[in-house]
Amino acid sequence: MKAANMKQSGGGPSRTGIIERFREFLPPCENMISLGEGNTPLVFSPRLSERVGCKLFIKNEGVNPTGSFKDRGMTVAVSRAIDRGARALICASTGNTSASAAAYAARAGIPCAVVLPAGKIATGKLVQAIAHGAKIVAIDGNFDDARRIVRELANEEELALVNSINPDRIAGQKTAAFEIIDQLGDAPDFHLLPVGNAGNITAYWAGYRDFRDRGRSATLPAMLGFQAAGAAPIFHDRVIENPETIASAIRIGNPASWKQARAAVDESKGKIDIVTDEEILSAQSWLAQNEGIFVEPASAAPIAGLLKGAEKFPDGSRVVCTVTGHGLKDPDVVLRKIGKFEPVPAKIDKVRRGLGF
Ligand code: F0G
Repeated sequence: MKAANMKQSGGGPSRTGIIERFREFLPPCENMISLGEGNTPLVFSPRLSERVGCKLFIKNEGVNPTGSFKDRGMTVAVSRAIDRGARALICASTGNTSASAAAYAARAGIPCAVVLPAGKIATGKLVQAIAHGAKIVAIDGNFDDARRIVRELANEEELALVNSINPDRIAGQKTAAFEIIDQLGDAPDFHLLPVGNAGNITAYWAGYRDFRDRGRSATLPAMLGFQAAGAAPIFHDRVIENPETIASAIRIGNPASWKQARAAVDESKGKIDIVTDEEILSAQSWLAQNEGIFVEPASAAPIAGLLKGAEKFPDGSRVVCTVTGHGLKDPDVVLRKIGKFEPVPAKIDKVRRGLGF
């Protein structure tokens, strides 16, 4: 299918995408490849607020069309790639970028090539890339190797690179900060999020500054980024050759936007911190069981930071924590913890006993 019918105006869509809502703050898009991304809930979290002693809100990016924040940047990157006449997309990924790129490529009617670290992608994300018809190559290497390879393969005219070193991705991801300011009436005092390739922390900081500079908000938050203890190059200030963590989305040893992330943290008087895999998994269950929000392990990293009291917030502070991807993307992590269910006979008393009533 040729890229066609892409000016999706009119028809009264029930959910508009970020290009339509924030066009004046984004680079120009002639075509609009949208799946209705953005406009995600900012949920007040009573139990987490009580634990932390401040007003805590969760920006739930797992409810985007492909289940992660990547869709915000992808709609802009793919629309502009089509504007420039790209005939295919390419990306390296720990999973979510590939799921999103594959979906938006399908929407645009062009192929998508994906280079992945073999055996390191959560099941749900791989399923998404396959379902959307991506051409997938798994390499015997990690994400940092995959990223190097796609950079060499990509070329501006034909094969558009849609990783977050593409500035259109960062531009689109800034819209999450715009929404938070619109939802709260001003910027929060602190913003927490997981850090992997470091594009998202870069984008949020740019978004907060844009809206402050345009008078849409009065203040700027301190940016607090969380890395997994086994994959924490920015925290340790050195490349990690063999990063390891259960949070496969952020298993990255040499982030592309390292410098920008450092600048965001320094300028905002924030910090980069680390959490262990145990803390991540326990935060993932805590959030699912106490706030009703099921996130993938990487997204639980900042929640883990909150639960272990990594930060002391002044009284009355407003804190926003972005959870970046839906829990269903990585079902194996949860299944591994609970094991198999043994069936019982289909009798009331057996079921009652099974339930422990
Ligand atoms: N959370 C999730 C669920 C992610 O998928 C990623 C990155 C991050 C956090 C970190 O964001 O890289 O902007 O610092 N995933 C990329 C991918 C690397 O390929 O899907 P970042």
